[in-house]
Amino acid sequence: MKSFVIRTKTAEESRIVCRAGVLRTALVRALGDYKEVFFFSDRNVWELYGRKIGRAYRDAPVHIMPAGEANKTPETLLKLLAAMAEAQLHRGACLVALGGGVVGDIGGLAAALYMRGIDCIQIPTTLLAQVDSSVGGKTAVDFAGVKNLIGAFRQPRYVFADPTFFATLPPREVRCGLGEIIKHGALSAELFDLLWAHRSRLADGEFLAAVVPENIAFKAEVVRRDATEKGLRKCLNLGHTTAHAFELTDGKLSHGEYVLAGIVFEAEFAKRYADGDAEYLAKLEELCLTALGGMPALPPAKDAARLARLDKKNASPDEVVLTVPVRKGEYRLLTLGYDEYAAGLEEIRNKFTAGGVQC
Ligand code: GLY
Repeated sequence: MKSFVIRTKTAEESRIVCRAGVLRTALVRALGDYKEVFFFSDRNVWELYGRKIGRAYRDAPVHIMPAGEANKTPETLLKLLAAMAEAQLHRGACLVALGGGVVGDIGGLAAALYMRGIDCIQIPTTLLAQVDSSVGGKTAVDFAGVKNLIGAFRQPRYVFADPTFFATLPPREVRCGLGEIIKHGALSAELFDLLWAHRSRLADGEFLAAVVPENIAFKAEVVRRDATEKGLRKCLNLGHTTAHAFELTDGKLSHGEYVLAGIVFEAEFAKRYADGDAEYLAKLEELCLTALGGMPALPPAKDAARLARLDKKNASPDEVVLTVPVRKGEYRLLTLGYDEYAAGLEEIRNKFTAGGVQC
C-alpha cells in the first residue's frame, strides 16, 4: 500500500491512499466520520461502480451528470449545487466525487463553493484522474471557450485510488492517463528512466499499477511545496499550453492524447529556443509517440495558436508562455512572441504530419 499526506501552508490536509480494495476499507472508515454523505458521479461510472458503492450508503443522495468533457460547464456545476441544496446538506457534509477528471473537477468545485466549503473525497476511476486531476486540489469548469476558467484551489480531504479500476479502462483512456504520466517523466529523472526502461509495455496493467503510486508521490510532493501554483507547480503545465490549444480547437482526442502531442511540440520548441538536449528530447518524443501510436491528425496550427494566445499563463496577448522540457528532469518557462509561436507550431505540425506518421 502507498499512502501520502499533503499538508499545505494553508493548513489543509489531504490524505491520498493508493491500494487495491481501498474502497472496502479506508473509504468506509473515512465516511464513518460524516453524518451526511452526498455522491456525485457520471452516468457511465455510476452504472459500473456507483450502485455497488452506493448500496452501503442507501440513504445518501446521489447526483449523476452526463458523461463527457463537453459537460464540464457552469450549467452542470449549478445543477449539482441545486441538488446539494435540495438535499439540505449542512457544512459538515462530505461530497464524494466518483469518476474521472471531469467529475472530480466539478465535484471538487461544488464542494469548495457550497456553504463556502464542505469536505470532498475524490475516488478517481481513470488513470488520468488517479495520477493527476484528483491530487492537488485544482477544481474547475470550462467557460467562455477557455479551459478551467472558473475554479478554486481546495484540497480534497481524501483521495482513494484503487488500481483495479484500470481493468475496465478502454485503450484510449489508458493513452489519456499516459499523457500525464509521461509529463511527470519529463519532470523527474527517476520517472523518466522507469518509463524509458519499460517503453515496450507502457499500457500494460501490471506496469501501470506499479507506476501510478510513483506518479502520485511525485505530484503530491510538488503540491506540498506549492499548492496554489505560485512557482514550482507551474512545472505541471509542461506541454499543456499547446495541448489545450489543440484540444479547444477541435476536441476530437482525449485531454491526455493532446498532452502527449503537446509535449512533442514543446520539446521541439525547447530544441529551437531553450538549448534543449536533443538526444534526451528525441527519447521523450519517442515515449509520447509510442503511447499515441504515432502523431494523430491535428487541427490547423493557426487556429490553435490563436487559442494559445488566451492561455491563463500569458502575461500579455502578444506572447505565449510554455513550460518546456529541456534536459532529463529539467524544465524551463519559455516565453515566445505570438508570431514566433504561431510560425513554429505550423512548422512542427508539418514536420510530424507530412512524414506519414499520422495514425
Ligand atoms: N494538472 C496540473 C496541476 O494539478 O497543477
